[in-house]
Amino acid sequence: MRTIPNAILRFLLLSMLGCVVCLRPLAQQAPPPPYRPMQLPGLDNVYAVAGRFLSGSAPESDEAFSALSRFGVKVILSVDGASPDVERAAKHGMRYVHLPFGYDGIPATNVVQLVKAAQTLPGLVYIHCHHGKHRGPAAVAVMCEGVAGWDASLAERWMRLAGTSTNYTGLYKAASHFQAPSAAQLASVSTEFPSRVKVSPLAEVMVRIDEHWTALKAAQPGGFRDPKSATTALQLQELLHEAQRTGAASTRGDRFAEALKSADQAALELTSKLDTLAKTRTPAAESAATESLRAVGKSCTSCHRNFRD
Ligand code: HEC
Repeated sequence: MRTIPNAILRFLLLSMLGCVVCLRPLAQQAPPPPYRPMQLPGLDNVYAVAGRFLSGSAPESDEAFSALSRFGVKVILSVDGASPDVERAAKHGMRYVHLPFGYDGIPATNVVQLVKAAQTLPGLVYIHCHHGKHRGPAAVAVMCEGVAGWDASLAERWMRLAGTSTNYTGLYKAASHFQAPSAAQLASVSTEFPSRVKVSPLAEVMVRIDEHWTALKAAQPGGFRDPKSATTALQLQELLHEAQRTGAASTRGDRFAEALKSADQAALELTSKLDTLAKTRTPAAESAATESLRAVGKSCTSCHRNFRD
């Protein structure tokens, strides 16, 4: 009897092996990341994460609060410096927890609080900062590392997906250097979380500065046609002036004081350019205003780089 030719045997063997090889990656494929983007009215950057968390931007309208409530959210957790709208949340049947931190990282005490919150807050929890891109997603990463078995790599992938800027190295470090809090540390944290805490006077002014800044940026693409633009710029300048009175400069030194003063100057310049633009709608006046807007933006980022992040 003739034996099966070697070539055929090899082919058969290889294809059987091939099947095993091609099946293996299917069986071992990493599970899809436990987060998915969602649309909720009045909110941006919303993701459902790890089954019981939602991550997104600050709810600022009844529409947004109502959407969260209808979706089944019981608790809203803010890590933002802005004072949470506790009353409006209550009106929609939800409770607020306020655990704010800055852009430079998550302090160890906040990490313990966040993990305890993840363990003990009931039902679906909505976690937000202002835009839902940087501090909020970092908090979600730490919470999922604490209770959902996430490792550092998944936490980082999540933050990148949520849009956390890699400039915020402190936020990424909070996730990559996460240490699970000990039982004693967790036991020391009360489950009576505050619904509103006081933030530093500077952070408070910055939140208001940011609102004006966001409005100005939004008005730019249409050529600052919003008739309130010049007034908004003036108010921004006044707030930067107010920031000088918070006493922040005395603890942070001369360079900080100078940076605040030059931001103040840039905002004043923008106000005058917007005034001119309102009177004489010329392309030159429009590009001068845009240029001034850019200068203000630079003054924010350069100070944040040096003193905040
Ligand atoms: C002279 C420095 C300086 C300038 C100029 C500056 N900031 Fe800030 N900003 C800070 C510091 C410092 C903090 C952190 C304050 C804290 O956490 O106590 C901060 C915090 C913030 C925050 C976070 C507030 C929160 O929720 O905790 C926002 C938003 C912000 N700044 C927006 C802006 C914008 C927009 C501009 C420009 C129009 C600007 N800042 C200009 C120094 C500056």
